[in-house]
Amino acid sequence: MADFPLLQNDLFLRAARGQATERTPVWMMRQAGRYLPEYQAVRADHPFFEVVNTPELAAEVTLQPIDRFPLDAAIIFSDILVIPQALGLEVQMVSGKGPHFPNPLDTPADLERVTDQEADAVLQPVYDALTHTRHELNGRVPLIGFAGAPWTLMAYMIEGGGSKSYRNARRWLYQHPESSHKLLNTLATLIGQYLIKQVDAGAQALQVFDSWAGLLGPSLYRTFGIPYLESIVQTVKEVHPEVPCIAFAKGAPYAQPALAAAGYDALSLDWTMSPETIRAEIDTDIVLQGNLDPCALYSAPDDIRREVQHMLAAFGPQRHIANLGHGMHPDHDPDHAGVFIEAVHAFSETMRAV
Ligand code: CP3
Repeated sequence: MADFPLLQNDLFLRAARGQATERTPVWMMRQAGRYLPEYQAVRADHPFFEVVNTPELAAEVTLQPIDRFPLDAAIIFSDILVIPQALGLEVQMVSGKGPHFPNPLDTPADLERVTDQEADAVLQPVYDALTHTRHELNGRVPLIGFAGAPWTLMAYMIEGGGSKSYRNARRWLYQHPESSHKLLNTLATLIGQYLIKQVDAGAQALQVFDSWAGLLGPSLYRTFGIPYLESIVQTVKEVHPEVPCIAFAKGAPYAQPALAAAGYDALSLDWTMSPETIRAEIDTDIVLQGNLDPCALYSAPDDIRREVQHMLAAFGPQRHIANLGHGMHPDHDPDHAGVFIEAVHAFSETMRAV
């Protein structure tokens, strides 16, 4: 293991482990991205996957929000779609359109094309980026690694890109349940190893993004979502029991108790979920993360402060990591992100003083 600089701010890691903190830690999904002019400047000269696969560039972009705002964690600049790439599928990032797979999976026969032979080579740049970024962070805040969840990645691999209904992917679950399980299992196995290696490379916490969990509903998610999220966290915990694991099952309030039982340390809630309701449904006092509506950042600074106050009150002072309910949008004003972060600092300290 590399000799990394001493961590100076461990608020996020302590909160993620359920320990008491003197203030609520805060970070934002997509905190590195197009709403930052300094990110746009890097992207003007480098295609998206070049940034992802060049450790110096990935580190630079990961640190941009850390240099600008008093955040309590950094998240490695990468994408969930490196896993489909590692399984042999081509993924392009089309500006203004998002991810595009020129040859998505159509029928179960296409699973022959899914192979992990090149996985280590394809994923090595991510590990190098983590190690490099951890050094560059110089212990200022912890570094979060991440992966997409099997169902969300399967949805992209079949649909070939973004989609409103993901009906081709959902059709597979009904028409080809066995092939679906085979693909999900391949994904879960690789993702488990990938997350372990991210920790070996320098990640200090992990988040699994199931962005399309909400498309499945309780019954399908129990069959095609939960078991794979459970196997991933169990695999990681066998090797790295001390590393906090966060699950973000967007749009799936019904999944939260099962994810808590599966072994995740924290659950990331989207903005439609009520922390009081979710907490009441879970019999452990699991850590919750979230969940300001990203669109609240379009409002005036005083209104953002009021929304943050309501959010912090709903979660309570401890066992909470402040975040958005989903990622930053490209047209967000960076100053409004700053207002959100400063408001979490101010109000969460006041909450503890009373
Ligand atoms: O700061 C961070 O959060 C770390 C970096 C990060 C990115 N993608 C960078 C990125 C993370 C954690 C992700 C995860 C990711 N990628 C998810 C899960 C989270 C979520 O948003 O639900 C998903 C579904 C993807 C797939 C993906 N990648 C999409 C749909 C897009 C297009 C988004 C759009 O609005 O056009 C991407 C591209 C992408 N990934 C960008 C960034 C900063 C923008 C691309 C650009 O610079 O042109």
